[in-house]
Amino acid sequence: MTTTLHPSAGDVLAASSSDGSLARTAARSVELEAEISADPSRFRVLTGDRPTGNLHLGHYFGTLANRVALQRKGVETFIVIADYQVVADRDGVGPIRDRLQSMVTDYLAVGLDPERTTIFAHSAVPALHQLMVPFLSLVTDAELRRNPTVKAEHGLTGGRPMSGLLLTYPVHQAADILFCKANVVPVGRDQLPHLEQARVIARRFDQRYGRIDPATPVFPAPEALLSPAVNLLGTDGQKMSKSRRNTIDLAMDADTTARQVAAAVTDGERSITYDPVRRPAVSNLVLLGALASGRDPHEVAAAVGGGGASSLKRFVSDAVNEHLAPIRARRAEIAADPDHVWDVLASGKARARAVAEATLDETLAAMQMRYG
Ligand code: TRP
Repeated sequence: MTTTLHPSAGDVLAASSSDGSLARTAARSVELEAEISADPSRFRVLTGDRPTGNLHLGHYFGTLANRVALQRKGVETFIVIADYQVVADRDGVGPIRDRLQSMVTDYLAVGLDPERTTIFAHSAVPALHQLMVPFLSLVTDAELRRNPTVKAEHGLTGGRPMSGLLLTYPVHQAADILFCKANVVPVGRDQLPHLEQARVIARRFDQRYGRIDPATPVFPAPEALLSPAVNLLGTDGQKMSKSRRNTIDLAMDADTTARQVAAAVTDGERSITYDPVRRPAVSNLVLLGALASGRDPHEVAAAVGGGGASSLKRFVSDAVNEHLAPIRARRAEIAADPDHVWDVLASGKARARAVAEATLDETLAAMQMRYG
């Protein structure tokens, strides 16, 4: 799986990312981490998820843990739950209320603190969406049609006609990022084309519509903070995805987790090694055990060694259950108080609306369209 929250186009994109720009972005991300640690007050982070299913260990090790780390450094963070994105390539929103509730419950359980992190639903912030109108004036249909992530996502829909919303989704996402003037966006590599589009929009807005304050553009150019590539597969050795029933969810109990790990695919070799290319399924279990226990995968493989698949599985389910125990305990407490979860979204909405309205006001002023 990739580090984003819906069955994304990361795999399809792997081939297109061998052009050196990925390496540059990765190198810049390392610098950025250091700059953030040195002075968190210079940065504002926005990131987001599509509410299409439960959060699982792929999300946890891929992005959630990193968000909590950024929050701990003291960076102001916004998280958009991108409910409108759900209908870019599907007919309906599904059980959206339950998904929002469960997603926010997971966020809080892993340690995101609503006092420090603004968590809000996309649809709740009208001024954010209004930014899309001027932004659409700054892009061409040709560049949208070229966007590799849009193409790949469309490719996964099995021949559905491309909706206008899917085609313009990078522009919409630019509004998600720029409404709060975020300058850092932690993402997986499949989202890099969208980030580039947001940077282009910020720059073109400046060129075409100008500034209010001559010293600063209305929109800063956001930078990607590439999450470390954690390529966790599902327990069947395939891409981790809810529809394959191969995930370990944050919300699962310890017994279900143990059963899921016990049923995981391995191979016929007796001794355990960490060799992701030759032994993807076994190595994936090793990686999971390593992430959960905070150890190096080679060390974990060596420790299990001749114990074989059954002791590897025992190690992995114990390590995962131990790591998740406090998170799950907190999750159960939070889940028992859904009103709190909706309160978190209500205050996130109020905060995000205030920020979006201020930005929209500046945007309209720069465009000479603030009349009142
Ligand atoms: N498109 C992202 C995904 O599919 C979710 C998302 C929505 C997002 N808005 C965002 C990510 C803004 C980063 C910034 O996972």
